[in-house]
This record gives sequence, C-alpha cells and structure tokens, in this order.
Amino acid sequence: MSLKSTILSLLPTALLLTSSTTAAPLAPRAGCPGATTSFSFDVKNFDYHDGTTFSTPAHQIPGGFVAFNLTSAADVVPRQCNAYSTQLSDFYYGTLNYTCTTTTADGEVVQTGSLFTYDTPGETLVLVEPFECDGQKYVAKGTYTFEPPLQCVTEEYQNDDWQQGEIYSSRKRTCEERDFAFFAEVEKVE
Ligand SMILES: *[C@@H]1O[C@H](CO)[C@@H](O)[C@H](O)[C@H]1NC(C)=O
Ligand SMILES: *[C@@H]1O[C@H](CO)[C@@H](O)[C@H](O)[C@H]1NC(C)=O
Repeated sequence: MSLKSTILSLLPTALLLTSSTTAAPLAPRAGCPGATTSFSFDVKNFDYHDGTTFSTPAHQIPGGFVAFNLTSAADVVPRQCNAYSTQLSDFYYGTLNYTCTTTTADGEVVQTGSLFTYDTPGETLVLVEPFECDGQKYVAKGTYTFEPPLQCVTEEYQNDDWQQGEIYSSRKRTCEERDFAFFAEVEKVE
C-alpha cells in the first residue's frame, strides 16, 4: 500500500466525499494531507547536547549534536533528523541545512526531502518539507523557538594532575529531551 493510500484510508469517508464537490480553485483538496493552512510538524525526543574535551591542554575536541524524530501532516512515516557540528563555540548558527532520513522495511537508511537548521543561541529550529499531492508540489516551512527555553545542565571536569594520555579537561552540556508540535506555512511550488 502506498503512503498516499495509507493516509487517505485514515481520513473519514465524509471528508473524501465532499472534497470533489467543493471546488476551491486555490485550496488543495481535503484529501491532500497538509496542503492547508494547518500543516503541522510533530517533533519527538528532541535532544541537544554539546561539549568540548581537551585531550591535552592544547588539543580540543568539540562536538555539538542535534537529534529528533519527525512526522508531519504530509508524511506520517517517522524520520530521524540528526546533525553533528564541531563549529565552536555554539555549534549551530542556523546557517546550514541538515537532512532527515528514514529507514525502509529492508532496513535501508534513505534520505527524505526534509531539511532542518538549528540555532543554538536563539534556540530556534526551522523545518522544511517538500511534498506532493495530486501531482501538485508543495513546500511546508515552520519555525519553532523553544518556549520555555531548553533546560540544560553543564558539567565541567578539570584534571589538575594531568599526565599525558589522560583527559585534561572537559565541559559537557546536556539538555532535557522535549516533544513538541508546531504549525508550518505551506506554499505551492511551480
Ligand atoms: C525515534 O526513532 C528511533 C529510530 O527509528 C526509534 O528507535 C525511536 O523509538 C523513535 N522515537 C519515537 C519517540 O518515536
Ligand atoms: C535550506 O534549504 C531550503 C530548501 O532548499 C532553502 O530554502 C533554505 O534557504 C536553506 N537554508 C539554508 C540556511 O541554507
């Protein structure tokens, strides 16, 4: 069964029956999931953590991680969105697109069209998802700013007795995992 037919089979029959008679020229059919003003993104297990380890007083190893699961009004198949950055000192600045993948029934990890950017100082997640419905292309774009702000804990470690081969110091910031949903704007793509 195709994704589209799966989604259609979930819709109430009444909705499908009325869709062919209410011909609104610009509004997509009711049977096209998400192609409305109330398109939403659903984010589960949003996880942000970062840190820097000094393996010697002069050698630092930085890393910032973003990971979450995504479903949306257009695609109920869960996608995994992940990013890794070494760009000090906030790691994410909203300037790079990262991708979301999904795992097929065969266990193969494939790219989806979904993209995201994250901005650590602004605690802002932007999601972009292209989708197609009835041969028409759309793109949904939504911006979410954490409110209340993410609760994070920073742990610092300093090895005052440092010897070669030991960790000299480290700083680790771990934030609470969060689930949230937010609305997106949908535009037709020509
Ligand atoms: C997120 O995706 C991973 C990998 O597919 C899965 O193991 C996990 O259960 C998912 N979490 C939620 C809340 O859907
Ligand atoms: C991310 O990709 C989208 C879609 O291609 C594009 O509109 C947007 O400008 C890109 N954002 C960045 C920060 O490159």
